[in-house]
Amino acid sequence: MTNTASINPFYASRLKRVATRNEERDRPVYARLPLAPKNASPVPHLTSLYHFHRAGEYGNRSYPGNCGGNLIKDLLAFFKPGWVFDPMSGSGTCADVCKEMGIPCLSFDIHQGFDACDPREFPEAETFDFIWSHPAYWRQKLYADDERDLSRSPTLDHFLSRYGQFIRNSARALKPGGKLAVLMGDYCDKEAGFVPLTYWTKRLAFAAGLRQCCTDIIRFSHGASSSRKVYRSSFIPGLHDTCMVFERPMHSQKGDCV
Ligand SMILES: C[S@@+](CC[C@H](N)C(=O)[O-])C[C@H]1O[C@@H](n2cnc3c(N)ncnc32)[C@H](O)[C@@H]1O
Repeated sequence: MTNTASINPFYASRLKRVATRNEERDRPVYARLPLAPKNASPVPHLTSLYHFHRAGEYGNRSYPGNCGGNLIKDLLAFFKPGWVFDPMSGSGTCADVCKEMGIPCLSFDIHQGFDACDPREFPEAETFDFIWSHPAYWRQKLYADDERDLSRSPTLDHFLSRYGQFIRNSARALKPGGKLAVLMGDYCDKEAGFVPLTYWTKRLAFAAGLRQCCTDIIRFSHGASSSRKVYRSSFIPGLHDTCMVFERPMHSQKGDCV
């Protein structure tokens, strides 16, 4: 038996449930997480280590790259935004969470013909309080039969150039003090090797005039399809993605974020 006495009771109750034989592969897995300090957060379980064993009834779980809605829900409960925008909406997870919480939300995707990397298509400057973004990675999963689909970028440089434009579009569309939350992962590309997209996200966000406003949130990737595969090669499996929250500085002018 694993001693769970020093685990935050909130996590302990979840870990017991997540570690059943039916839900996980073939053995229970326990992690002893550090205790979080008590503070005035309205969502005390939102810490730098995030896991939720159930995705919640948001979006469509069978959509490629779908993310559970609970992290979005906790971020919205913490930051309490007015207008929310999801420019790469996929199956509409963020919009579903906003609907449940009564928060106005606009969401688009390349599947509807909206190109988030095109500054002419992006909503006006200083429109949103919060932008949730779960971008397509470079050639991990291919989404739309459209060359503007970020995942179909022919090279990593091309991807980063368009991704940078997307981040600049987002920075510009935020009100001063508004937040951009990006859920991103690092991975290994067969030809290009390790692709540190979280590093690139930060570089591009800082270059766009944004500042990071809280800790990285390491989200455990429960239920990733790769976790059930068997590989011949030896590598260190990545079991998380990272949510980074950036802020447009309060006193920035319209022209500072373009
Ligand atoms: C990781 S998925 C988002 C999944 C979503 N969070 C969900 O829970 O269903 C990334 C999405 O970005 C979209 N996408 C790719 N390139 C785009 C672009 N240039 N403009 C807008 N959307 C794009 C893809 O079609 C895909 O739906």
